Amino acid sequence: MQVFNVKNNVYYIGVSDRGLRVFDIMMETKHGTTYNSYLIKEEGGVTIIDGVKAGFTDKWLDNIRSLVDIKDIKYLVVQHTEPDHSGAIPALLALNPNIEVYGSFMAMANLKEINNAPFISNVIKPKQELKLSERQSLFFYPVPNVHWPDTIITHDPVNAIAFTCDFLGQHIAPQQLLYSKEPNKKIIEEEIKLYYDAIMAPFKSDVLKSVATLKSLDVSMVLNSHGYILDTKEAVDWAINNYIKWSTVNKSEKLTVTVVFASAYGYTRSMSEAVISELEKASALVHVFEVPRDDLATIVARIEESDALLVASPTFVGDGIKPVYDVLNSLNPVMCFGKYFSAFGSYGWSGEAVRNYMNRASELRFKKVDEGFKVRLKPSEKELEDTRLYARNFIMKIKAELNK
Ligand SMILES: Cc1cc2nc3c(=O)[nH]c(=O)nc-3n(C[C@H](O)[C@H](O)[C@H](O)COP(=O)(O)O)c2cc1C
Ligand SMILES: [Fe+2]
Ligand SMILES: [Fe+2]
Repeated sequence: MQVFNVKNNVYYIGVSDRGLRVFDIMMETKHGTTYNSYLIKEEGGVTIIDGVKAGFTDKWLDNIRSLVDIKDIKYLVVQHTEPDHSGAIPALLALNPNIEVYGSFMAMANLKEINNAPFISNVIKPKQELKLSERQSLFFYPVPNVHWPDTIITHDPVNAIAFTCDFLGQHIAPQQLLYSKEPNKKIIEEEIKLYYDAIMAPFKSDVLKSVATLKSLDVSMVLNSHGYILDTKEAVDWAINNYIKWSTVNKSEKLTVTVVFASAYGYTRSMSEAVISELEKASALVHVFEVPRDDLATIVARIEESDALLVASPTFVGDGIKPVYDVLNSLNPVMCFGKYFSAFGSYGWSGEAVRNYMNRASELRFKKVDEGFKVRLKPSEKELEDTRLYARNFIMKIKAELNK
C-alpha cells in the first residue's frame, strides 16, 4: 500500500499483508489484510497513530520517511498493543527515543513488555487532550474490551476524524482503501461481519458502549486499522448501525433456558423430555437442540440470549461426547458469566460425562445451580420422577435469584 493523503494533514502510512490467510490462529482471511497506520503532519507536532506488524517494519519506516524525518516525530499514539499494530513500534522508538508515547494504562504496561527497553510513556485519562498545535488537538477515549482491555479511540475534531483501531475494521487488502471508491460493497459487507464475529462478538455490551462514545463525537470519517477506511458519514453510520444490530441481544422477558442434548438409545432423550416439560410448566421459554443434528451457530446464538444452559448426553468412553463439547467449546467466559448451568444424562457404568460438563462450566464462569444429575441406563418411572424433581429445583433456584 502506498502512502496517501487521507484528509488535510492526515496521511495513510500503513502496509498490506495481501498473502495472509489466517489471522490470530483461527480466523480465515481469504482477502488478506492491511495494518493501517496514520501520520498527522502538523508543524511542530508530527504524530503517528498505531504501528504495524513486525514483519512490515521496514516498509512502514520507509512510508514514514517519505513524509517526514523520523527525528521530527513528536508523538506516537498506541491505541491497542496487539502485535499486529505494535510489533514494529520498538524499531521506531529505537530510531527516535524522544518520541512521547500516549496510550491507556494497560497499553503502556503492555508496550513495556513488547518494547523491552525504556521509552517515554504517557498514560491517558478519559477525554484527555493532546495539543498538536494552536489549531489542532487530539482527544482520547478509552473503549475497553473492543477487543482488548487496553483499547482507546482518538478523536481529531478539526478534521472530524475518529481513529478507531480494530473497531469497524475488516480483513481485506484492497488496491485502494477508500470505502466510497469501492464499487463492490458486498465484499466489505461480508468481511466487516466476519471480523465482528471473530473479534468483537464476545464483547457485545462493550461494543454498544463504544458505539455510544463514537456517536457522541463529531465524526465524518473513521480511520480504522484493518481494511477499508470509512471515508464518508454514510459509511460511518452504516458500519455503526451494523455493530448496533449485531450487538443487540434479544433477551426475552421470560426466564429462558437452552437445552442441548444427545442420545444414542433414547435414555437421555427421555430424561430431556421430562426436564423440558417441567421447565415449560414453570413458564420458562425453552430452546431445545439435539446435537450433532442442529446448527452450532444457532445454538450458540440462543445460549447467548438465554439465562441458563442445560446440556445432556450419555457417557461414552469415560467422557462426555464431542458434539456437546463442540457447543461448550464455542462459548467463552465473557458471554457465559452470570448465566446458570447444569448437566444431566444416562450412563452405563462409570458416568463421567455429567461431572466433566460441570467442570467445563466452571472454566466458562457459568453459575452452577447443582452438581448435575445422572441415571444408570434406562430411567425407571421413579428415576423419571427424580429427573422432574431435578428440573423443578433447577428452575426454582434460578427464579428465586432472578425474580423472574
Ligand atoms: C461407544 C460407547 C461407549 C460407552 N462408554 C461408556 C463409559 O465409558 N462409561 C459409561 O458410564 N457408559 C458408557 N457407555 C454407556 C452409555 O453411557 C449408556 O448406554 C447410556 O445409557 C446411553 O444413553 P443414551 O440412550 O441416552 O445414549 C458407552 C456407550 C457406548 C455406545
Ligand atoms: Fe486487535
Ligand atoms: Fe488488529
